Amino acid sequence: MRGCQIFGTETQMNVKLTINGERQILTIEPRVTLLDALREHLGLVGSKKGCDHGQCGACTVLIDGQRVYSCLTLAVMQEGKEILTIEGLATEDTLHPVQAAFIENDGFQCGYCTPGQICASVALLEEVKRGCASAVTPDLNSSPQLAELSEAEIKERLSGNLCRCSAYNGIIAAVQQVVGQQPPSPMATVNLGRIEN
Ligand code: FES
Ligand code: FES
Repeated sequence: MRGCQIFGTETQMNVKLTINGERQILTIEPRVTLLDALREHLGLVGSKKGCDHGQCGACTVLIDGQRVYSCLTLAVMQEGKEILTIEGLATEDTLHPVQAAFIENDGFQCGYCTPGQICASVALLEEVKRGCASAVTPDLNSSPQLAELSEAEIKERLSGNLCRCSAYNGIIAAVQQVVGQQPPSPMATVNLGRIEN
């Protein structure tokens, strides 16, 4: 295998990754997931390990602009791609608009799922801009515009990210705020519980 070295019984290789605009070179086993590479080898612990099985979305990152469960992909497969994690969203002293909206709309409680929710929301906005339809888009010949994105669309497009604290109402309100809609007041949504998909 290209670039492999044998250390004892383990096979390691050099992997060059571009993460949040910085080049990183790791010497890792080829079986290391991107999530473990981020958390265990680079100290980027914003991406969370919830299920480690592609079921919760806590590990969501952006790869070349597409949202990906980093627990389900190998680090070695990401050479030559641009990886963006929650740590790379804000500039030095300015939060990404989605991050700010999550704070303003109480889009989290314990915060464990939040990095994944925010990365998924950032991807959602770009997907809508590109005209991507979802399972609930009523007319596939006329994909929704950001300003008129329905609550059902937001719920569907974030359905791959679970929140055990059930902060869903705040998460949806945050996305609505970012796309220029008026989110419902917190008192109007209190006690509604988990979103229904
Ligand atoms: S940790 Fe990756 S989907 Fe749950
Ligand atoms: S805020 Fe706690 S799991 Fe989502």
